[in-house]
Amino acid sequence: MHAVIMNGSPRVRKHSNTDRILARFLQGMTEDGSTFEQYEISDRKQWERARTAFQHNDRILIALPLYVENIPGLLMEFLETLIPRGGDATLSFILQGGFAEGAQLRCGEAYLEMLAGRLGCRYGGTLVKGDNFGIRLTEGKEQERITAPYREMGRVYSREGSFFSEECRKFTGPETFPFFTRLLISVVFRMIARKRFARAARAWGATRPLDDRPYGGRGV
Ligand SMILES: Cc1cc2nc3c(=O)[nH]c(=O)nc-3n(C[C@H](O)[C@H](O)[C@H](O)COP(=O)(O)O)c2cc1C
Repeated sequence: MHAVIMNGSPRVRKHSNTDRILARFLQGMTEDGSTFEQYEISDRKQWERARTAFQHNDRILIALPLYVENIPGLLMEFLETLIPRGGDATLSFILQGGFAEGAQLRCGEAYLEMLAGRLGCRYGGTLVKGDNFGIRLTEGKEQERITAPYREMGRVYSREGSFFSEECRKFTGPETFPFFTRLLISVVFRMIARKRFARAARAWGATRPLDDRPYGGRGV
């Protein structure tokens, strides 16, 4: 199989978590005998070639991070320049985000399913996974450990050309954390993270509290 791969992150390749995920995923795909061509949406100079590839290939995969609960604005801008396909193209997605619970990526997933149809493609499913905030801050073995599961998913995509199998569904992990985990996270957030955010904000010159509501209570 030959696939067109697009990294839909607005972050340049060097800083993009999606790029690290794709590297591992494409390793799996290649090991299974597939070939690919890759485009970066962060680089507008590649848009013309990416558009042509979209028109002339039947396996297309867009990998994207969740930005404010849905797809990044720059990717949206690119997608709006595409002419919908006719024929036999299948469009699949890798949707990844920072927060770990699968549930918060489902709204984006539903949007992507609709989007495939609007672009004149058959929907090939979405590989959904969170907990990826820190990938680009890691290196070597630690980064390999975090991204390793995507390698197997690359093999699955190469074999099946889609993400509908049970294996892909389980890949997401927990939809929501158990009650006690959520409780623990909220306590830790209150005790540690808030103080750290406040300290960072002061260091950047903030003079008001982070939960300040300058317009609150004024009926605005
Ligand atoms: C502006 C912005 C908004 C984000 N919004 C979300 C969000 O709504 N949910 C989430 O889980 N992660 C969110 N994230 C985290 C990214 O999805 C996550 O770090 C991802 O791995 C970034 O991939 P990239 O480096 O390829 O862009 C956001 C990150 C940024 C910079």
